[in-house]
Amino acid sequence: MSGVFVVFEGGDGVGKSTQQKLLAQRLADAGVPHVVTRQPGGTAAGQRIRELLLDPTTGDLDPRAEALLYAADKAQHVGEVIRPALERGEVVVSDRYVDSLLAYQGAGRVLRAEEVAAVAAWATDGLRADLTVLLDLEPGAGVGAKADKDRIEAAGDAFHERVREGFLALAAAHPAHYLVLPARRSREQIAEQVWRRLAELLSEPAGRLDP
Ligand SMILES: Nc1ncnc2c1ncn2[C@@H]1O[C@H](COP(=O)(O)OP(=O)(O)OP(=O)(O)O)[C@@H](O)[C@H]1O
Ligand SMILES: [Mg+2]
Repeated sequence: MSGVFVVFEGGDGVGKSTQQKLLAQRLADAGVPHVVTRQPGGTAAGQRIRELLLDPTTGDLDPRAEALLYAADKAQHVGEVIRPALERGEVVVSDRYVDSLLAYQGAGRVLRAEEVAAVAAWATDGLRADLTVLLDLEPGAGVGAKADKDRIEAAGDAFHERVREGFLALAAAHPAHYLVLPARRSREQIAEQVWRRLAELLSEPAGRLDP
């Protein structure tokens, strides 16, 4: 595979989708072939899984069932969208990936983090992002302005603080594959830093970092 896999991660309302759009625009301007996608919901099957996961009328899901639904979305997404695009040598820009599963499902303190990580690795056939941009923000700030909270967003501040710590711990464990940025910086400043880091990756002879 010779493409580059970039992921935006972070809590709710931190600016992931905004930065994904800005990066896609820069890639288009630079004439770099790319695919813009998201999890959950980056495939037709994934879209149905997304609706099931986020709809408040779904009610309480067993934590293992919830983790497996997220994992199923990822398996389909990697097989149908991400891996084929990387094999074509394209840049894939995803709004969320494995770290969201690890941070959110691990934060519930019900499932063991190593077990969720093993499920995620199996579901994605071991595919890791070359660069994960983590937009870091204290919980509550991003979702505060939104009136309708979905099922996950409604889970409470202590939960979201553990999610934030989970994301930061993942970044700290593999710093070469992460760019952690305070989400409060301006859109333009964040976009510029992301672009600079990606440009380094794109200019490497092999096109991507070693695992
Ligand atoms: N750097 C920024 N500074 C201030 N506001 C921002 C910034 N980036 C995005 N916003 C605004 O914050 C809101 C949330 O942004 P966005 O939808 O991109 O976040 P998100 O992480 O994708 O959210 P969600 O988790 O709901 O998908 C939007 O109104 C957006 O315009
Ligand atoms: Mg979004």
